[in-house]
Amino acid sequence: MKHIDLDIPISELQEYMHQNDWLLSKNEEILGIEKPGEGNMNVVLRAITNQRSLILKQSRPFVQKYQQIKAPLDRIAVEHEFYEAIQNSALSAHIPKILGYDMEDHLLLLEDLGNCEDMTSLYQKRTIDKKELQKLIFILGLIHRTKVPQDFPDNIEMRKLNHQHIFVLPFMEDNGFSLDEIQPGLQELSLSYKKDNALKKIVKKIGDRYLSKGTTLLHGDYYPGSWMTETNNLYVIDPEFGFVGFAEFDLGVMVAHLIMASGKKKYLKRILAQYNGEVDEKLVAQIAGIEIIRRLIGLAQLPMERTIKERKSLLKKAYKMIMA
Ligand SMILES: Nc1ncnc2c1ncn2[C@@H]1O[C@H](COP(=O)(O)OP(=O)(O)OP(=O)(O)O)[C@@H](O)[C@H]1O
Ligand SMILES: [Mg+2]
Repeated sequence: MKHIDLDIPISELQEYMHQNDWLLSKNEEILGIEKPGEGNMNVVLRAITNQRSLILKQSRPFVQKYQQIKAPLDRIAVEHEFYEAIQNSALSAHIPKILGYDMEDHLLLLEDLGNCEDMTSLYQKRTIDKKELQKLIFILGLIHRTKVPQDFPDNIEMRKLNHQHIFVLPFMEDNGFSLDEIQPGLQELSLSYKKDNALKKIVKKIGDRYLSKGTTLLHGDYYPGSWMTETNNLYVIDPEFGFVGFAEFDLGVMVAHLIMASGKKKYLKRILAQYNGEVDEKLVAQIAGIEIIRRLIGLAQLPMERTIKERKSLLKKAYKMIMA
């Protein structure tokens, strides 16, 4: 398998892309390679040529940043299928174009969205622009109303991985996470949730639903790290956790991140009021609550500085949303 990384000799990458017919002509030359932004799971590179720039994304059988953790190699195929499914719709203005796909080398060639930034700065800003929120809800509705391709991958291995990190490990007493290293006092704060059987029963039930088949095309990871902005444009990337499931999952995750960023529960009602589709509000709230808890006391922490008091208050809100 061809492996690409930041250190790949330009001549080698040039030859590989040429062989795949990914360059415009013999005259298109790669001038440089750079890292386009932060990511953990895959290898993502920007190749700058004398005519344009391109993004290459490759999956490996492990998490690129933590190579001892295995990860399904097929995730790049899911990403490819997802983009293909929505490419010729109103969504095309909000996703990168697919310029090439090499199944054997697990490599996707994408349009470079340019000087975009992901929206993780929301956790510092603590508020979101009304128009941006509106666009994000609109885009999610379009994704959910897409006709599901008949052979869309079940993506079950990625879902099992996510299931562990969302629904199982954060609620286990001896999960081995050193929460006090993240913030002193967090371990103690987490205990009451890990010992609450009524809570765990609901989380288990919703977790089972996450693993079962649904009817709606989902992005699967609809949070600020997958949202990219550039002046007036808004893009959604990284659908490697996509699957055919229930709309409440994406909605709940989105709601969770807006509540965590802002500290305000009103985003639940606000997002549902603008979303075009029938959903179970209680289930959205429950997913949101679970996502908040797992981001606070699970392994996949966010770039979000909060006092222990603020974390406590978020956990309380999340708990109420799940149990109400
Ligand atoms: N098409 C694109 N145009 C411009 N920048 C991009 C594009 N795709 C990815 N990037 C940049 O590269 C970063 C990593 O990409 P991506 O999130 O797809 O990788 P990942 O390995 O799946 O990351 P994660 O571990 O967060 O899931 C993005 O945050 C973004 O900054
Ligand atoms: Mg990713």
